[in-house]
Amino acid sequence: MSNYHIKHLEEYYQVYRKSIREPENFWEEVAEEHFMWRKKWDNVLSWDFSKPEIKWFEGAQLNITENCIDRHLSTRGEKTAILFEPNNPDEPAEHISYNQLYTRVNKFANVLKSKGIKKGDRVCIYLPMIPELAISVLACARIGAIHSVVFAGFSSTALSTRINDSDCKMVITSDGSYRGAKTIDLKGIVDDALEDCLGVNSVLVAKRIQSEIPMKEGRDEWLKPLLDDASEDCPAEIMNSEDPLFILYTSGSTGKPKGMVHTTGGYMVYTAYTFKNVFQYRENDIYWCTADIGWITGHSYIVYGPLANGATTVMFEGVPSYPDFGRFWQIVEKHQVTQFYTAPTAIRALAKEGVDLVEKYNLSSLKVLGSVGEPINEEAWHWYNDNVGKKHSPIVDTWWQTETGGIMISPIPFVTPTKPTYATLPFIGIQPALMDESGKELKGNQVEGRLCVKFPWPSIARTIWNNHERYKDTYFSAYENKYFTGDGALRDEVGYYRITGRVDDVIIVSGHNLGTAPIEDAINEHPAVSESAVVGFPHDIKGNALYGYIILKDTGESRDQNNVRNEINQMITEHIGPIAKLDKIQFTVGLPKTRSGKIMRRILRKIACKDISNLGDTSTLLNPEVVQEIIDNAL
Ligand code: WTA
Repeated sequence: MSNYHIKHLEEYYQVYRKSIREPENFWEEVAEEHFMWRKKWDNVLSWDFSKPEIKWFEGAQLNITENCIDRHLSTRGEKTAILFEPNNPDEPAEHISYNQLYTRVNKFANVLKSKGIKKGDRVCIYLPMIPELAISVLACARIGAIHSVVFAGFSSTALSTRINDSDCKMVITSDGSYRGAKTIDLKGIVDDALEDCLGVNSVLVAKRIQSEIPMKEGRDEWLKPLLDDASEDCPAEIMNSEDPLFILYTSGSTGKPKGMVHTTGGYMVYTAYTFKNVFQYRENDIYWCTADIGWITGHSYIVYGPLANGATTVMFEGVPSYPDFGRFWQIVEKHQVTQFYTAPTAIRALAKEGVDLVEKYNLSSLKVLGSVGEPINEEAWHWYNDNVGKKHSPIVDTWWQTETGGIMISPIPFVTPTKPTYATLPFIGIQPALMDESGKELKGNQVEGRLCVKFPWPSIARTIWNNHERYKDTYFSAYENKYFTGDGALRDEVGYYRITGRVDDVIIVSGHNLGTAPIEDAINEHPAVSESAVVGFPHDIKGNALYGYIILKDTGESRDQNNVRNEINQMITEHIGPIAKLDKIQFTVGLPKTRSGKIMRRILRKIACKDISNLGDTSTLLNPEVVQEIIDNAL
């Protein structure tokens, strides 16, 4: 028997040791006992980080939707699989049972087939958090099409870049979306994006806001009539374990977004196993993750992980502030939520509103609280623990990444004693390493360095779509034979990990990863801008906010600088999305540069953080005089 459900600390250490000493045997047992395979593997693991090449369960055949849906039908057919809570609290929630999910996914899969989509084709999904989002993801997986979900807050330019990068043939979207009191014209954004996407010949449109929208003849079709006519029977495509399941884009420190490719067998095993343990999931729990399916957290812990365990997973369409800041707690009470998984930025925003709105609702159903996406500061941790968890629901501070596919460092609730701001211990099978600047591994406890992983785990991304070289450069070339995460971390005296933040040019704003390079590219498109540099600075709610230092082409001209500021943010909104807007814009005559012409971001970061006591030696700069001028005009 594999230890599928860890229940005490002794057992954690025992299972952890086994997973490190005999990883193949360990994961083979988990895979064998808890999943449905059409054919078993020939080889559990082969790997070489120098290429890099990683294969789990090679030779095995399966379909992940048979694991997430079909195999539950005989025992849980009438159980709610997806519990949809709409944006408007007066609209009734929708309970989609496993039987209904089966029918809806099959119908949707048949519609995809009728539009010529087949195994290996890429399908872009640009939908709000409505049931069609989860259903279309699963429908792609049913027929072996590779889904590429793009978060519906991204702009048309960001959308077209992603569609073209992976050559999507189809886009699935909706007539619009609700977000709090606002409605958003999603289809209009898709229409704009598709002006630049010649490979897309089919757009399927779900109706959500009942608006009259232009439909392009021969390209756009409403989903409903197609679904109504489709057959309920769609045999699952048999996939190889290493066939791609999906592409999901994440920001890099330079240039265009990286299309991380996740494959089928290992991803399924790891997301299911982590879900079960990190949330101590039990039959009949009501699990709610507030993320959007447009991010990895939604892929792994709203869709695949929970459904692979036959769980009920809540999908919430709205925002925490509508109709008021009590909305999350109202939903917890209404659906008797047992596990609640959210981001520190949401916790900080809610904490700011006071406790009255929390106390108004009965939260006694809660057993486990989760946090993900960025470091959780001590104050937010305590607020969450005291007011939401009432000090008896452990907080699992889960560290992981789009690239890792599943949770990597996290307490196991009721098993690992928690410690505020610490993600605590590596999950089963995970071998972290902290590295110093010279590339040496820091052994022992009470050390701080760059976080790497020494051994493959089943859900590691296998490549960057169409760019294996970049995959190698970004993750496997900083340290020999190790996966480099881009994060810094420390290990305390008992071996607990605390993530200290990014060590590259990625800034996490409200839990969203933003590369500085694409933002600077967008700013530089403005005709009045000659050069720019973007850095992060601490923000009470967002965690980090963006500070832009911008050189205008003609500072002598009496332009209205506020207009330029607005136009620059407009430019960013168009190229990336509103999440990447700058909070502060300082116009400057120069940027501090090294003699080789590199912008010294370290100095700019310190000034933005109002930490100018120790700027280091600036005399070696090409233009040391600009530093004082920037300090004098800092915002
Ligand atoms: C950060 C989200 C501290 C980290 C699942 C990582 C965290 C990046 C935590 C990945 C955490 C995520 N504590 N930092 N618990 N969780 N991060 O790809 O910097 O959107 O590298 O995946 O978020 O963000 P991504």
